[in-house]
Amino acid sequence: MDKEAILALLEETREFPPSAEFTAQANLNGPEMVRRGNEDPDGFWADIANELQWFHKWNRVLEWNPPDAKWFVGGKINLSVNCVDRHLAGARRNKAAIIWEGEPGEERVLTYWDLHREVNKFANVMKALGIGKGDRVTLYMPMIPELPIAMLACARIGAPHSVVFGGFSAEALRERINDCAAKLLITADGGYRRGNIVPLKKACDEAMTGCPTIEKMVVVRRVGEAAGITMHAGRDLWWHDLMKDADDYCEPEPMDSEDPLYILYTSGSTGKPKGILHTSAGYLVGVYATTKYIFDIKEQDVFWCTADIGWVTGHSYVVYGPLATGASVLMYEGAPDAPGRDRFWEIIEKYGVTVFYTAPTAIRSFMRWGDEHPAKHDLSSLRLLGTVGEPINPEAWIWYHHHIGGGRCPIVDTWWQTETGMILITPLPGLVATKPGSATLPFPSIEADVVDETGKSVPPGGGGYLIIRKPWPAMLRTIYGDHNRYVSTYWMRFPGVYFTGDGAKRDKDGYFWLLGRVDDVMNVAGHRVSTMEVESALVEHPAVAEAAVIGRSDEIKGQAIAAFVILRDDYPGGRPSADELKRYVTQKIGAICRPDDVLIAADLPKTRSGKIMRRLLRDIAEKRVMGDTTTLADPAVVAALKEKYGENEG
Ligand code: PRX
Repeated sequence: MDKEAILALLEETREFPPSAEFTAQANLNGPEMVRRGNEDPDGFWADIANELQWFHKWNRVLEWNPPDAKWFVGGKINLSVNCVDRHLAGARRNKAAIIWEGEPGEERVLTYWDLHREVNKFANVMKALGIGKGDRVTLYMPMIPELPIAMLACARIGAPHSVVFGGFSAEALRERINDCAAKLLITADGGYRRGNIVPLKKACDEAMTGCPTIEKMVVVRRVGEAAGITMHAGRDLWWHDLMKDADDYCEPEPMDSEDPLYILYTSGSTGKPKGILHTSAGYLVGVYATTKYIFDIKEQDVFWCTADIGWVTGHSYVVYGPLATGASVLMYEGAPDAPGRDRFWEIIEKYGVTVFYTAPTAIRSFMRWGDEHPAKHDLSSLRLLGTVGEPINPEAWIWYHHHIGGGRCPIVDTWWQTETGMILITPLPGLVATKPGSATLPFPSIEADVVDETGKSVPPGGGGYLIIRKPWPAMLRTIYGDHNRYVSTYWMRFPGVYFTGDGAKRDKDGYFWLLGRVDDVMNVAGHRVSTMEVESALVEHPAVAEAAVIGRSDEIKGQAIAAFVILRDDYPGGRPSADELKRYVTQKIGAICRPDDVLIAADLPKTRSGKIMRRLLRDIAEKRVMGDTTTLADPAVVAALKEKYGENEG
């Protein structure tokens, strides 16, 4: 966030206490549980774990040898049993587990019983393909029910899944497949996005030119003929062919609490994505508890988290958390403005969605599209709203509160990360008064703090680095294949405590106000993009000699990507245009990493020791008065860049 946005946020004084009606019915509505969480965290988590189904219970809740945590030590559990089988005994058996709407308008409802059958069948399909406990399976799929079915089937047989967001390029997919040496790839012929076909299978074919570990590819028929795909004999298999004769029961694998559940790649401050590894029992207990108490899930709720399952929000709050609580989960395949800008509100009205969870960047788009779109629909089924992914500006919070929540729904602004697996800082909707723009307080048992450079706690009112002092059940256990990077990224900056990479401030009431990343990671429309990753893609272009990338503030997306590029004089192929370089990055990594601005420059501002001064690039891109330039080797470079950026805009 830029300075002005932060200042506006910190001047916010409005408070919204929960209504008496909401509190009276809330799953967590008294201070006892919070006190227990903070005073006896092991007991608190054990109580919650006892609500789940185990093959064998744990001997110890937590074993903590910083930075390595083991939760529910000695326990045996299976996530598919807890997300599906556990609900079959009573009335939930015939309740909708997944309510799906395709972008072109199709509907599908899977009851818990249906989900059980599909998950078991696909688990058997994978076994027949030679997949067993510990084998990695990569999923590159649209938002269709087969995606959670495949994830739960992986969990059933103990094969860690690695879901790669469908917006990533073939090359990014290849890198993620090879990093974890996946054996099986699951995809679809295509998906729909704003009426266009997303060519997933074609991207898989392209990736396959360099993925020696993949033995088979399973393809869901989503689009049909129009996808224009080719099936490669001996390698590619249709999902529906394999499912036809599959047996509908597969014995679940009793997983050790600490056995891996999944790998999910996220951007770090180097070019190479990190394979965040989550394990079984602690992750399940964490997402189950947070779904139950933060989203206040009740038997009759229809819960809609709009995130794509390719991101952690989708893993934890489309799939594992809500299904573990036995909720009805709404899943929508497409874009919020297809075919009309009221698509989300139409869906909420149609299915009676009660709890709605989305990102601030989406809310800012809705605001810009106009109040008339939500006003056309009856949104009275809603009772609770949530946000995630980036700080929410108070203006967007208030708009959400009035135009979507009808002034009656509490808003939970939830702070967490791919690494944390579960929400860590959030209002408890029946208990905590909210302040627009603040994620408020840590979840019971979570010890969050704001510290200075030296790791000392900063008193209320001061800003610093957000850290977490103690382990929590759903925390990452390692970076796949690189434990040293795990230790150095998260546990060395302040020895023995978890470093989030975020800046934060605490007010006099102890409320946390998140201030954005303090490392080289941008937050573009709620997605994590590393400046290094974009820089690496740019310098791979043969005409590019040097590139510097920064996040500049953007009204809708939070941050936009600005790239400063120096071209080689000696490149024989001619000088690429800014548009060509943008396309190049899209092709290399994916459209979410496409720079908004590319400025082809003669030089970059550097210190005398040769370090690029990104702070000045940010000033240029945000058209601010220059900060301190005294350490610059050549001040004329900045003046030239400023002028050029202005021209480019015009
Ligand atoms: O900077 C924080 C921001 O998103 C980062 C985590 O990104 P990712 O791993 O992709 O997970 C996103 C969804 C969990 C954090 O380091 N962030 C997430 N939630 C919030 C937030 N910033 C402010 N307020 C939030 N509620």
